[in-house]
Amino acid sequence: MKKVLITGASGFIGGFLVEEAISRGLTVHSALRNSSNTEVLDGLDTKLIYWDFENVDNMANILRKGDYDYIIHNAGLTKAKAKEAYFKVNEQYLRNLVDAIRMADLKLDKFLFVSSLAAFGPADFQPENIVKENSVPHPVTNYGRSKLAAELYLIKQQDIPHNIIRPTAVYGPREYDLLTVYQSLGKHIEAYIGLTNQRLTFIYVKDLVRAMIDILFSDHEYKGYFISDGHTYSAQEMNVIVKRELKVKWTIPIKLPILLIKFLAFCNEKIANISGKYPPLNIEKVNELQARDWNCDISGLEKDISFVAEYNLDHGLKETIIWCKEQELV
Ligand SMILES: NC(=O)c1ccc[n+]([C@@H]2O[C@H](COP(=O)([O-])OP(=O)(O)OC[C@H]3O[C@@H](n4cnc5c(N)ncnc54)[C@H](OP(=O)(O)O)[C@@H]3O)[C@@H](O)[C@H]2O)c1
Repeated sequence: MKKVLITGASGFIGGFLVEEAISRGLTVHSALRNSSNTEVLDGLDTKLIYWDFENVDNMANILRKGDYDYIIHNAGLTKAKAKEAYFKVNEQYLRNLVDAIRMADLKLDKFLFVSSLAAFGPADFQPENIVKENSVPHPVTNYGRSKLAAELYLIKQQDIPHNIIRPTAVYGPREYDLLTVYQSLGKHIEAYIGLTNQRLTFIYVKDLVRAMIDILFSDHEYKGYFISDGHTYSAQEMNVIVKRELKVKWTIPIKLPILLIKFLAFCNEKIANISGKYPPLNIEKVNELQARDWNCDISGLEKDISFVAEYNLDHGLKETIIWCKEQELV
């Protein structure tokens, strides 16, 4: 049985990924930190490995003992107050992990790095209004810049067979950022922030983790893949689906100007300084909301792993809202 180590296993994507990897016949070890909440791994046949990305020697010992065939480096910082925090977790921890792999002399079949579409930024800056593999990256957030820095480092590590994936917005059960949108629609508030004619892209978490394991098993190496369900959507389209699933017959549409949103995001961050909890609406998020177009080219994925999404937004949101109702979140 081949063995995979998955970092960031305690997170939203991590929980689904561990489940998918097990169902695909892999022995799965979940790399966590001492403070991780492991609830999403409850009942799953996975060994919990506790380590610290700052302790390369200890990581190397664990890797040597584990003798892994694959590593999926999925841990990442998606919300932070300071730019330095993004670069530390998203770039430096990848470097530390690569150092540990070399120190352990681990001969991997594949190392899969979870980057983000944010590393290339929106399609607004691309001549054909679509982000492609050969596009010049134009990240608009520190999160995106840190993922790009990590990618640029990894592609130079030719002794480590790897792939990079760049998912667009991932949604599904246990995802709490879009939950605020569902909850507000449930309260009859239909807020449109910034541009109304945006082109958005999404990937349902179950399609994402299936694609991740397909890429892991594929012979294609040293390649990057954008991942979406292959469609583009407007915010209105998404709201129509959510309202239908929540049986919300009427809403009060509110168009919030971007300046007001910037002010709210600023206040949110100030409050976060006290509470210590980083809010879904933050300055980085505003930079993303200001972008018009998040279209990305998934032809590499279609060609190399014959990817076809099983879930479009309608199907995926239906399942997500059922889960939200079960949890009494909406
Ligand atoms: N969700 C999306 O829409 C999306 C889109 C594109 C790419 N991604 C990427 O997908 C990956 C997973 O994201 P997610 O949505 O599942 O986020 P998440 O729910 O916040 O999970 C992040 C995971 O990374 C771990 N992590 C964060 N900071 C860490 C640190 N300092 N040291 C060690 N571990 C740390 C977390 O561990 P703890 O549980 O201990 O905090 C958690 O397991 C990330 O790399 C993210 O950048 C996500």
